[in-house]
Amino acid sequence: MVVGGRHWDGRRMSMFHTSLRTLAPRSKPEIADGAEPHAESSTLGGVRVAVPPFVSPHCAYLSSKTPSAAAPPADGAGSNRGSSGAARSDWSIGELLRWTQARFAELGIAEARLDAEHLLAHALGCSRMTLYTEHDRTVDEEPRARFREFVRRRLAREPVAHIEGKRGFHALGLELQVDRRVLVPRPETEHLVDWLLEDLAGNTNARVVDVGTGSGAIALAVKHARADVEVVAVDVSPDALAVAQANATRLESDIIVSRSDLLADVAAGPEGWSAVAANLPYIPSAVIATLEPEVRLFEPHQALDGGPDGLDLIRRLLDQVAQPGVLALGGAVYLEVGFDQATTVAAMFGARGFEAVIRNDYAGIGRIVRGRIAAVVPARSQPE
Ligand SMILES: C[S@@+](CC[C@H](N)C(=O)[O-])C[C@H]1O[C@@H](n2cnc3c(N)ncnc32)[C@H](O)[C@@H]1O
Repeated sequence: MVVGGRHWDGRRMSMFHTSLRTLAPRSKPEIADGAEPHAESSTLGGVRVAVPPFVSPHCAYLSSKTPSAAAPPADGAGSNRGSSGAARSDWSIGELLRWTQARFAELGIAEARLDAEHLLAHALGCSRMTLYTEHDRTVDEEPRARFREFVRRRLAREPVAHIEGKRGFHALGLELQVDRRVLVPRPETEHLVDWLLEDLAGNTNARVVDVGTGSGAIALAVKHARADVEVVAVDVSPDALAVAQANATRLESDIIVSRSDLLADVAAGPEGWSAVAANLPYIPSAVIATLEPEVRLFEPHQALDGGPDGLDLIRRLLDQVAQPGVLALGGAVYLEVGFDQATTVAAMFGARGFEAVIRNDYAGIGRIVRGRIAAVVPARSQPE
């Protein structure tokens, strides 16, 4: 999100195309004109892994024609009118991309080229790679009409993820359905998943709860990596729960999706939770009106607003996990926080008897705070 001309924090809008929390480097580099397209990439346990683009490699709607001449870009993305006013129907992929990139850039859309590529690939039902291999091919009217509609929506600042209706999450290659009912999962959150999975290694009897699950991103990634772990996904928003459940069903993941106000309405069980993961709303209320339109206008307020200092929900959750029996022996809490909140949240953990450790995002900014109950030295072993 942008405050005073800079990003408030590093929550990226699309692989995200616009930043909500960004100070982080692109996780999907923009492809320059004529350059080789990149595969998506992410990290798994600190190792960068290539993930193939999650769209079909086939373009169903490419004409076999190549454009009759190097016609100048026209008055709309794939409009049938050329700049001369003459009708034309021979827009090539390259022309469409150049025209759209320029319009997006004029509007201040940060990742203009990448967005244009995503939308055209989506309109064509093909991969971004194909846009390069078929650069000079003419696009038929039907996909061009679809593309024009996508461009119109993006010019109104609707996030690319909403237009596509999906977002890739984590190197595990999860494809999540997303829409206005949930926050679009951000790359920062992948760090939280990686850390939790590292700590769970060797724990064969683990129970994990994802608090404020939204699309189900964290819960589904953990379950995907560790089928043996019992994973519960809770949210207070019925809309978010519907999206999380739909994603779980589509991915054939047997996470348990349940409504709860933080941990108030879900049982920790006799042993307690092995891990509590939460990417809760943490934006200070007053900042919300200053956010980029993609976030302010299209993402649920309930997924953003963390109260006056952004920490209302985190504070309440910490009070809950500090209760006896909520965390299993050796259990931990993993919180994603705003770009300037990690130290404060670590102190909040400390005040409740937890040992806190901060982990940085790709930009070197502390974004995930892990809290564990501090080891207590038994009274009888203390020196007299
Ligand atoms: C920032 S979004 C995170 C979504 C998802 N975990 C992710 O990382 O993409 C925060 C989520 O917390 C949920 N939430 C807000 N208040 C809550 C509460 N009191 N109890 C449970 N969930 C809550 C919102 O509905 C929203 O889905």
